[in-house]
Amino acid sequence: MMKKIFSGVQPTGTVTIGNYIGAFRQFTELQHEYDCLFCIVDQHAITMRQDPKELSRTIRSLAALYVASGIDPEKAILFIQSEVPAHAQAGWIMQCLSYIGELERMTQFKDKSEGQDGVSSALLTYPPLMAADILLYNTDIVPVGDDQTQHLELTRNLAERFNSRYGDSLTIPEIRTPKTGARIKSLQEPLKKMSKSDPNQKATISLLDTPKVIEKKIKSAVTDSEGIVAFDEANKPGVSNLLSIESAMSGQSIEALVSKYDGLRYGDFKAGVAEAVIGHLAPIQEKYYNLVESSTLDDILDDGRERANAIATVTLQKMENAMGLGRQR
Ligand code: AMP
Ligand code: TRP
Repeated sequence: MMKKIFSGVQPTGTVTIGNYIGAFRQFTELQHEYDCLFCIVDQHAITMRQDPKELSRTIRSLAALYVASGIDPEKAILFIQSEVPAHAQAGWIMQCLSYIGELERMTQFKDKSEGQDGVSSALLTYPPLMAADILLYNTDIVPVGDDQTQHLELTRNLAERFNSRYGDSLTIPEIRTPKTGARIKSLQEPLKKMSKSDPNQKATISLLDTPKVIEKKIKSAVTDSEGIVAFDEANKPGVSNLLSIESAMSGQSIEALVSKYDGLRYGDFKAGVAEAVIGHLAPIQEKYYNLVESSTLDDILDDGRERANAIATVTLQKMENAMGLGRQR
């Protein structure tokens, strides 16, 4: 049987080329070798307050970006978390298995709650919901950023706890983080990762930025005063980041790019990087705009909901039976 992959992305902020290079593109490769489920985790998004109109727009946009980036809905299951009720139901079960202490130790909870007024209780119970997302599909592998390691560890602990208490056999998932080098940095502070929640627009390139905007942002990217195009992440983080971006977009190796720019100025270098990004994103953007308001996208999400639901309800029923919830079925 093919191994199963599950991953989720929150529908918040604008998807950046960092997300694309570090996550989406990996997904499109994985779908050929694994049974893949990709979930738009809107219930996770509402652990922080969201504007309803904006949330619903972002959900649709994210779904269209998945497909435009190469997710094939015939191969992978693409769906919206809140449309499959088993997530909230299994999330409750996982909360009942979690200890407050272990949830309070999650660094993401500490980061997001520190110094905030009116922290929702769901910000604390977010990881058990994430565990439910994963465990409902007998997931073998979870490809995520390394900031999710602690949540994955908790998911494994909860699965083991469930299995040992109720004698059932939830699959214990493995984490898969992208190789180093796949980490794209901010254009303005090249020691920080490019993040879709960065308030500085100039720091990130959105998958939907126009060619003009992309040129402008790359032109104003922070480099150094050396004037030599070389890959050295410690001493030349800005230049190295731009090289990584062009390499990811053009498929050319870093070495090939370094010799391409040998003796040229940063201005020429940046123009080359911008050209590679613009060229790579053009077909993605075209597909996106054809899809985002179309009924085809609804068909894809309807189909994803049905297929996800069929798997998730079976696992949920097994969990409920094992725990003695409701009447045995
Ligand atoms: P986030 O935007 O933090 O919700 O991340 C969604 C996915 O995109 C995760 O799997 C991350 O590993 C990936 N990702 C986010 N930012 C970057 C980045 N700057 N470079 C590479 N991958 C990233
Ligand atoms: N917590 C993840 C993030 O912030 C998103 C997420 C929710 C997720 N459920 C998941 C990722 C299940 C992988 C699997 O990036």
